[in-house]
Amino acid sequence: MKYIQIGKTDLIVSRICFGCWQLSPKFWGNISLDEWNLALKKAMELGINFIDTADAYGDGFAETVLGNFLEKLGCRKNLIIATKFYWNFTDPQNRYPDTGYDYIIKECEASLKRLKTDYIDLYQIHAWDPLTKPDEVSAAMTLLKKQGKIRWVGVSNMNVHQMNMYLKYMDIECFQPLYNILDRDVEKQEFPFCLEKKIGVITYSSLARGLLTGKYKGNEKFQDSRANHPRFTGENFKKICISINNVLMPIAEKMDITVAELALRWILTHPAVTSAIVGIKKPEHIETVIRAADDILETRLWHSIASKMSSAYDK
Ligand SMILES: NC(=O)c1ccc[n+]([C@@H]2O[C@H](COP(=O)([O-])OP(=O)(O)OC[C@H]3O[C@@H](n4cnc5c(N)ncnc54)[C@H](OP(=O)(O)O)[C@@H]3O)[C@@H](O)[C@H]2O)c1
Repeated sequence: MKYIQIGKTDLIVSRICFGCWQLSPKFWGNISLDEWNLALKKAMELGINFIDTADAYGDGFAETVLGNFLEKLGCRKNLIIATKFYWNFTDPQNRYPDTGYDYIIKECEASLKRLKTDYIDLYQIHAWDPLTKPDEVSAAMTLLKKQGKIRWVGVSNMNVHQMNMYLKYMDIECFQPLYNILDRDVEKQEFPFCLEKKIGVITYSSLARGLLTGKYKGNEKFQDSRANHPRFTGENFKKICISINNVLMPIAEKMDITVAELALRWILTHPAVTSAIVGIKKPEHIETVIRAADDILETRLWHSIASKMSSAYDK
């Protein structure tokens, strides 16, 4: 496993990050907790030290499961934990964005309790909240930092303008955007901005929710949140699967890595990217992506994959 510093922080993290959204039954169905625990154990054995979760994943469930794991194995100090806040799920039927001062202070305490820890390494604002002024958010984050409850601040799902609004009042050390071979919007503005400001980047949906593993033919039916997702239904689904099979599979085979490893290596080759987060349910998921971080791609191959995938997909 290769390790890298997040932005200007003292956090040295594995280039593959273990994502915990899969512990949200609403989005991913009920997964086996035994398998999940084995997967995280395996990930640690393979050198992964970086975990991404959120208070909202399963309305506290993901943090609770992770907290139980940390306590049982006594391994908190060996891991770098990133979590998030934003969705106020006090009433799960009526969740709403909330980055108000009081909510942040209260929710951080709740996350610490669920995670069975007394500090969060990277505390991320899950998305932009238009109703709360950035100085109010910053006041809460600054207090939490001063109290040692959080170590560094990150943001997710924001554009340059929104990051700049926060930067007027506090440091941001890490940005978590959607990024993979099929979703490249942040290359235009956010990646250059993060490079310039030395803000780390950790990518989510790095495998496009499983599409970029090459395991689908295009006729599968899903029981989870992918059931009605346009990329996982109808002609679109078939078209993307064919592109992945035609473009990525032969390259991965030639390199003797899995398609998932090639897709992640493609992400990790971008100089703005710190780590790629992968959503994991079982040990095989981690075992078959682990070599992604061994190396980066040659520039020519990176561009060739990007252009072939975009033209194949646009047809
Ligand atoms: N900040 C945000 O707003 C945000 C949003 C989304 C995600 N995230 C974070 O990013 C993480 C990853 O993103 P994601 O969950 O959207 O999707 P992802 O990592 O692109 O895909 C995860 C899915 O890919 C499949 N998979 C993973 N590894 C595999 C392997 N080696 N072989 C075959 N299939 C594999 C599994 O699907 P199957 O069900 O088919 O097995 C898994 O559920 C999340 O867990 C979360 O921590 C953050």
